[in-house]
Amino acid sequence: MTERGNFGTKIGVVLATAGSAVGLGNIWRFPYMTGQDGGAAFILVYAVCILLLGIPGMVAEFVVGRHGASNAVRAYYKMGGRWWSAIGYMGTVTSMIILGFYAVIAGWCLQYLVASFMGNLHGDANYVATYFKTFSSAPWQPLLWTIVFIVITHLVVIRGVRKGIEKFSNALMPILFVLLLVIVVASCLLSNAGKGVEFLFKPDFSRMSQSVLLDALGQAFFSLSLGTSCLCTYASYFSRQTNLLKTAGQIACVDTLIAILAGLMIFPAAFSVGIRPDSGPSLIFITLPNVFQQAFSPTLGYVVAILFYALLALAALTSTISMHEIGTSFFYEELHISRRRGAIIETVVCCAIGVLCSLSCGAVDISLFGKSFLDCCDFLTSNILLPLGSFFTCILVGWVVPRRVVKDEVSNWGTLRVSVYAVWLFIIRFISPACILLVFLHQMGFV
Ligand code: PFF
Repeated sequence: MTERGNFGTKIGVVLATAGSAVGLGNIWRFPYMTGQDGGAAFILVYAVCILLLGIPGMVAEFVVGRHGASNAVRAYYKMGGRWWSAIGYMGTVTSMIILGFYAVIAGWCLQYLVASFMGNLHGDANYVATYFKTFSSAPWQPLLWTIVFIVITHLVVIRGVRKGIEKFSNALMPILFVLLLVIVVASCLLSNAGKGVEFLFKPDFSRMSQSVLLDALGQAFFSLSLGTSCLCTYASYFSRQTNLLKTAGQIACVDTLIAILAGLMIFPAAFSVGIRPDSGPSLIFITLPNVFQQAFSPTLGYVVAILFYALLALAALTSTISMHEIGTSFFYEELHISRRRGAIIETVVCCAIGVLCSLSCGAVDISLFGKSFLDCCDFLTSNILLPLGSFFTCILVGWVVPRRVVKDEVSNWGTLRVSVYAVWLFIIRFISPACILLVFLHQMGFV
């Protein structure tokens, strides 16, 4: 079996894991969910989910991963025995489905990158909306971009953990942050921007829809990459010195900050150009080209648009790398094949899912339960499989694994003073499972 890699530096650990967390979930999904579910009220519920379920759940997944020091399936097996490896399998399959539909949206970013470069996104709001509709529902072009994106991910993953994953994340994350700040300032200076800021920060509970709880829960898990075994896989590369609690806290902070900044980038601009905040998944592909044209001089707008879509694609890349790594590590370790071969199997499976998702956006009618195949994959994974994965991880770490093993991992074998250990343990034993269960029951109409 190939030698397992690990992250080289402390900052590398945080940036690579934050790279997994920060992606389209923050910049594409969070704003459109917030727009559909009533703005500030949704954000409030989301923040509670991050604090109460997200951070403790991350630590639980870290415990399983670092203890197992192997792919997710084996790590769950080592922690709880044969039956618990099912959670590892579930996470691995979930990550493949997510990678399939995520690559479609990331592919749209690549198309927008090229279109901005060629100056094809110039025009009024109607023109940009039509451009998006025509492009995303065409059969070939989006499909090719989807495959290109998965292949790029493949090429990074086969370089390994330190030279591939860690190096890329270290360079990209800080640039993304600075660019985001610049666009936020530009967006907030537009006329009528105040309405967008109000929409984000002034809760109006009457606008909350029925599904808000489940959506916020799903978004929190999706955004933190929680429940897919992704954190478990990355934690298998952590060193014995990595402080699990602190790392989880830092990543959740960075992730939430970027999501709020993305909201501040989109909504003031959307209100300013008269685009409805609840226009759904196409929000950033229709609103932002308008912002770039209105907020900056033509040349600057041109440059910022190119930079933005390039960085969005790169943020998506640091996330797809982490999803790809879950399956790759599973295939090469369990089938006893080379890392390269493992990566090829993962790539082929994800391309197949990605092709179906891409075609379902308008080219071919592939729908289930009245949703397009892509929306179905998104709903099934974010709102059901991720919370389930985290639910069972909390049960495993909180109730099944010997307490000493858990305490050793969280306290780095007694070398750290972890004053919040008891609180964390209480949350993952009682609060997290109960909350996830309640949200499910509520959604099914039982409570
Ligand atoms: N957290 C990523 C984002 O917000 O874009 C998405 C993601 C990455 C989900 C990795 C799941 C995963 F395993």
